[in-house]
Amino acid sequence: MKKITSRLFSTALMVLFMASSLSVSSMATAADGGLKSLRGAEIQAQETETTDPFKGTRDTAPIERNYVQQPPLIPHKVDTYNITKNFNKCMDCHAWNRYKETGATKVSLTHFKTREGQELSNISPRRYFCLQCHVPQADAKPLVGNKFKAAEGIR
Ligand code: HEC
Ligand code: HEC
Repeated sequence: MKKITSRLFSTALMVLFMASSLSVSSMATAADGGLKSLRGAEIQAQETETTDPFKGTRDTAPIERNYVQQPPLIPHKVDTYNITKNFNKCMDCHAWNRYKETGATKVSLTHFKTREGQELSNISPRRYFCLQCHVPQADAKPLVGNKFKAAEGIR
């Protein structure tokens, strides 16, 4: 009997305590103007959108080609894009498993063929050093004048 009353008593105490803490918290949020946010805005105000620091940004649209077989010119900077024995920065964006995410043009099928005509599943060694064929552009005055015109087929 004694045990039961003491248990009843402690349960009642707990209920009382919970009720009082509940009412305190509801008082604090309900009170209009009772709380002041440090940033001076409504607490419910929308958060500023977060940005993904690694998301690539498009700089320029692809440059028109001058003849059909031309390796397309590079429309972006390549300053820090290293190509080493173990890693090819260009493929970080231009590979078939990356281009959707990065918005880059995927390397074409021709880039998977070896010198002997064998088709590979990844970039062929003979296409590994991209800058052998693809070149970035600078907005500079031509040193020598020329009357170059694009090939008829794509003019
Ligand atoms: C950070 C991602 C990224 C890296 C790294 C990168 N590119 Fe690109 N590249 C792009 C995007 C995106 C485009 C599409 C045009 C644009 O938005 O600048 C593009 C366009 C191009 C084009 C033009 C394609 C066309 O259809 O005309 C060429 C060529 C190219 N890149 C070559 C390279 C080479 C070579 C390297 C390495 C030296 C390289 N890129 C590294 C993202 C990248
Ligand atoms: C031996 C010269 C050569 C090398 C090396 C080379 N390319 Fe190309 N690339 C070309 C030519 C030529 C074309 C246009 C014809 C074609 O699509 O094959 C081209 C086309 C492209 C295109 C456009 C594809 C399309 O569908 O329009 C991209 C992107 C590209 N190359 C990226 C690269 C990257 C990245 C590398 C290095 C990993 C590279 N290329 C290495 C010659 C080269």
